Amino acid sequence: MFKKQGKQVFYNDYLKFNHTIGLALIENNDVFLNDDDLNFILQKNDNIQYPTFIHDTFHNIYFTDEENLWLYQTITNIYKLDNKYKQALAFFALFQACIIKRPYNLFHRKNLYIRTAEVERSFGNKKTWDTLFEKHFLKFVNEANNAVLDNKKNNIAFQNDIFEWNYKTPDLVYIDTPYISKKGVGVNYFDFYHFLEGIVKYDEWFNLIDHESKHKKIKNGKNEWCNKGEIHDAFQNLFTKFKNSILVISYRDDGIPATQELIEMLEKIGKKVEVKKMDYKYVLSNGNSKEVLIIAQ
Ligand SMILES: C[S@@+](CC[C@H](N)C(=O)[O-])C[C@H]1O[C@@H](n2cnc3c(N)ncnc32)[C@H](O)[C@@H]1O
Repeated sequence: MFKKQGKQVFYNDYLKFNHTIGLALIENNDVFLNDDDLNFILQKNDNIQYPTFIHDTFHNIYFTDEENLWLYQTITNIYKLDNKYKQALAFFALFQACIIKRPYNLFHRKNLYIRTAEVERSFGNKKTWDTLFEKHFLKFVNEANNAVLDNKKNNIAFQNDIFEWNYKTPDLVYIDTPYISKKGVGVNYFDFYHFLEGIVKYDEWFNLIDHESKHKKIKNGKNEWCNKGEIHDAFQNLFTKFKNSILVISYRDDGIPATQELIEMLEKIGKKVEVKKMDYKYVLSNGNSKEVLIIAQ
């Protein structure tokens, strides 16, 4: 939205796969995937060696053998593209295709059987799960190409821990942090999406995996945004870091910390705070949590 409005936009996420999405859609002003690129990405090329790593490592975990074969061929071809924004656009489409084919849209469990079991279904979308990768991929390439726009600004995608990001003081900082529910359960994006992170760290992937885990997740360290004993300090430090910018925070009204606590933290650093309640329900959320937008000037 800000890019469309002609603002210079900096995007930051510490996960490399999200950074790749930032490269494709925020930093990239004028590169698209064309038909030649797509033919190249989708075809087996006799001059290319295709490592069978995904097939060997993730058998029966997330995707079928046939799909794993398609994945490692496609990933290897994408790495051969010679433009980093073309690569990023293709990875964006691939991530979306991977996500839409997963039960719960996540990689948190070894649960391919949910897709393949012959049972009466009360939830999920078997048709979408079983649609060919290639079909989903092409649809998302089209979406990505349509989202590329040139706003004549030097927009930049960063991949930093936010506390290490020191590029400039932005006029406005939009923050969409991980969320801890009122029961104290945090969302660790590394655990949910490690498979996508592996795709963009393809050569290192094997060594990054916790081979004890049933679902072959990537080992990851602790994160203060997922821990209810640490998240208050994390918000406090984040607000202090960006105290000279307008802060806009996406939040849920039943989170830890409570919205009121965040408001008080912001007022303490001299901000005037306004809260907008959004009428938006999360697809997989079973509570009544509502999205709020906290605006602190
Ligand atoms: C609620 S998601 C928002 C993602 C993005 N706004 C979107 O809609 O796709 C929270 C994001 O914060 C990122 N994150 C978590 N801890 C971080 C940190 N310390 N520094 C930078 N990014 C972090 C996660 O990788 C995750 O992508």
